[in-house]
Amino acid sequence: MAFPTETVYGLGANARSTAAVESIFAAKGRPSDNPLIVHIADMKQLDGLVAEVNETARALMEAYWPGPLTLVLPAAPGAVSPRVTAGLPTVAVRMPAHDVALRLIAAAGCPVAAPSANRSGRPSPTLAQHVGEDLAGVIDGIVDGGPTGVGVESTVVEAGADGTVTVLRPGGITAEQLARVAPGGVTLDPALREAGGAQDIPAPKSPGMKYTHYAPRGTLRIVRGAAAEAVAARIAAELEAAARRGEVTGVLAFDEHLPYFRADCVLSLGSIHALETAAHRLYAALRRFDERGVTYMLAEACPEDGLGAAVMNRLLKAAGHDVIDV
Ligand code: TXA
Ligand code: MG
Repeated sequence: MAFPTETVYGLGANARSTAAVESIFAAKGRPSDNPLIVHIADMKQLDGLVAEVNETARALMEAYWPGPLTLVLPAAPGAVSPRVTAGLPTVAVRMPAHDVALRLIAAAGCPVAAPSANRSGRPSPTLAQHVGEDLAGVIDGIVDGGPTGVGVESTVVEAGADGTVTVLRPGGITAEQLARVAPGGVTLDPALREAGGAQDIPAPKSPGMKYTHYAPRGTLRIVRGAAAEAVAARIAAELEAAARRGEVTGVLAFDEHLPYFRADCVLSLGSIHALETAAHRLYAALRRFDERGVTYMLAEACPEDGLGAAVMNRLLKAAGHDVIDV
């Protein structure tokens, strides 16, 4: 059953049932070594799931649950199907800040394993309609809660007993927000910092980070640089050259620069000064390019502070790390 959360739509199943969890992997076409996040509706559900919650993890939960934060914790043996954790000794847990999701989980009466409700490799769904596009006919149903809020997935972290927090996947809770409750500081999993992305590292801590994700069907390239004028000029020039080659062109950029661009499909990420709008619109924009048959698209990079870190992480993955630096 697909359901809305504050980040993206999830595809939920009883985390204790191996058969139910296997049907999620089958519906999504998801590699079985990529573990799932377990969703809970109240703190009582946490007790049976995890072996231990250190002080840092506790502080993070108090600050940001319910909300777009997933904690990787030592699993209580046998608490969920081994298919949920992909054999890891840890389990990823979150409590979503969405009334429909919370009520659904409470009604289910069990921890709910739920990845994003897209076909593996497609942009995550931010509308019930996106879930239908990918999964109609192969899942039991969709609870339509309208558009999701944040628009990118939860932040996945590991919390050390020493007050350190390691970000395994940037998301709806920003590094700045984490830092407020992490006396030991916030660091990025090294797998996230490599130029080629996590797929070049044998074992990123969050296994999902090694897969190509969110990829639109055409070629997507990112244009990045310190000077906005130079970035805009390069995007405009690339679009012109692509049009001359006969490509169906697309551009994904901020409102401040949109007037510079001529393309078959021009999509706005909102203001460069309001990156929560970019996060909210990103996945729907990638899907829109596909609908419009765009074969060559350029995206304007954004600053990596606040939600910009998650936006750039998803954009880089969507583009297969194809970046034009100007
Ligand atoms: O916002 C979200 O987190 C959404 C909504 C539906 O809640 N869910 C989501 O799930 O994004 P999914 O399956 O698409 O991504 C789960 C991520 C993957 O990168 C996976 O590798 C990581 O969490 N993960 C799950 N369990 C883990 C574990 N035990 N250790 C490290 N990473 C884990
Ligand atoms: Mg996903």
